[in-house]
Amino acid sequence: MITGFQHMHSALRWVVLALLVVTLVKAWQNRNNTFTSGQGKLGLFTMISMHIQLVLGLALYMMKGWMSMLGQPGVMQNTVMRFFTVEHLVGMLLAILFGTLGHSLVKRAQTDEMKHKRQLRYFGLALLIIVASIPWPFRPGFEAYGWF
Ligand code: HEM
Ligand code: HEM
Repeated sequence: MITGFQHMHSALRWVVLALLVVTLVKAWQNRNNTFTSGQGKLGLFTMISMHIQLVLGLALYMMKGWMSMLGQPGVMQNTVMRFFTVEHLVGMLLAILFGTLGHSLVKRAQTDEMKHKRQLRYFGLALLIIVASIPWPFRPGFEAYGWF
């Protein structure tokens, strides 16, 4: 089950990244036009994909024993251990927080211009943090992690 969760979590990164990019591109292209319900739906699906990653990630964090490594000696000196116990968790939580906040603030925005702006700002920030917090296989120490 852990392996299945990890494969899902790994593959879903591309869904999250693709949805974020499409939402951002469309928000930019239509920034001077009406904010359509399709654009709102796109933002909602993007947020849902992040919430699914959150659930899978938290399950992996507990099942793979990363949580119990918090505070153990030597963990902070090891790049991979520090990454998964702290950096990946904190980075992704922050990104998902921005994504969720963005979605709910878009719903509350009074004008279409404001809706586009908020989508660009909050989802843009989420995308940057997510890209920076993924264990890409080209990062030193993370060669064992794949692209899918
Ligand atoms: C949008 C959000 C997220 C993305 C895009 C993402 C992406 C990834 C990727 C690509 C991997 C490597 C998978 C592999 O190749 O095996 C991974 C592993 C992992 N992620 Fe996330 N993640 C996200 C959120 C989270 C969150 C919120 C947590 C919660 C703690 C989390 C915990 C983990 C854990 C525990 C692993 C497995 C590390 C291991 O033991 O090998 N992730 N994540
Ligand atoms: C640890 C797990 C989760 C947490 C902490 C969480 C948190 C939240 C929060 C705070 C909101 C409110 C956003 C707003 O004000 O509009 C929300 C909305 C939502 N979440 Fe999650 N969520 C989680 C898991 C999931 C999962 C697994 C799914 C679906 C597969 C999901 C789907 C949704 C949907 C559809 C909304 C409503 C958005 C709307 O109608 O505007 N969430 N979630």
